[in-house]
Amino acid sequence: MQDVDAIVKEALAVFAGIDDADKLEQAKARYLGKSGALTELLKGLGMLPAAERPAFGSRINAAKERLEAALNEQRERIQAQKLDARLTEEALDVTLPGRGPGSGGLHPVTRTMERIETLFRSMGFEVADGPEIETDYYNFTALNQPENHPARSLHDTFYLADGKHLLRTHTSPIQIRYMESHRPPIKIIAPGRVYRVDSDATHSPMFHQIEGLWVDERITFADLKGVLVEFLRRFFERDDLKVRFRPSFFPFTEPSAEIDMSFGDGWLEMGGAGMVHPNVLKNIDIDSERYQGFAFGLGPDRLTMLRYGVNDLRLFFENDLRFLKQFN
Ligand code: DAH
Repeated sequence: MQDVDAIVKEALAVFAGIDDADKLEQAKARYLGKSGALTELLKGLGMLPAAERPAFGSRINAAKERLEAALNEQRERIQAQKLDARLTEEALDVTLPGRGPGSGGLHPVTRTMERIETLFRSMGFEVADGPEIETDYYNFTALNQPENHPARSLHDTFYLADGKHLLRTHTSPIQIRYMESHRPPIKIIAPGRVYRVDSDATHSPMFHQIEGLWVDERITFADLKGVLVEFLRRFFERDDLKVRFRPSFFPFTEPSAEIDMSFGDGWLEMGGAGMVHPNVLKNIDIDSERYQGFAFGLGPDRLTMLRYGVNDLRLFFENDLRFLKQFN
């Protein structure tokens, strides 16, 4: 059997050479465990003459304490080494330059809106505005849209809980509001958000429109065509762009047309237009014998998609920075 001092000497050397916490605990078992070297010595205590037992017992106890203390020190050393290693590994280089605040940019649809406003202003149009929460009167009734018109249904329009207000379904109510407070000559565009119960790759429940209105004593359908063709050619910077006026129906214009633009081999619908219906002028006390005018509604989202080659309208409203950054 080994002598106590020899065991202690060996154990201390073994502990000191270990730098892994698990291995240290395994080494501890070899000396202090149930069948460890020191424990074995203690088991032989009974065989000693009674007079020697107390002295031997206390030597073993002292040896145990010595080893426990050494273990604790080694445990702490291992922990400290581990922490050091982690701190080195995860060190931050505080001398690196900062990333700086990101700089914002205009949304592609906003860019289009600004471009549209600039082009129409250069043709003498003012820019008007109106509320997004409208009454049934401005959104439908004043625009000669009868009680039973399908656009008025819950299916197509977001009504507010009070049953009196709705989210405007088009920018046309701005025509009425503007004509209530201004007399001809009137020459405005009115950009804004509009809302419909509709959602897929080319429809969003919120989208944008630009309304146009020119009322004066001698405004004809030829003026409408001239203004819109000029606008579209300048917007797309293409003098050879073809524009087609296809007969259509809107309650607030007569005659009415859809505006199509040549695109590749075919045509793309860009909006609606027409000569302001005499009933609309009568609703706001403008003499429809003396004054005529045209109105139109264009889709700036569609114009943005075409100008930048974006094929899904929803991308504009998801606000994914990876998408939006491409426009700035
Ligand atoms: N307000 C119509 C719509 O949202 C678009 C429109 C058509 C506006 C003809 C007009 C117009 O001013 O004359 O579908």
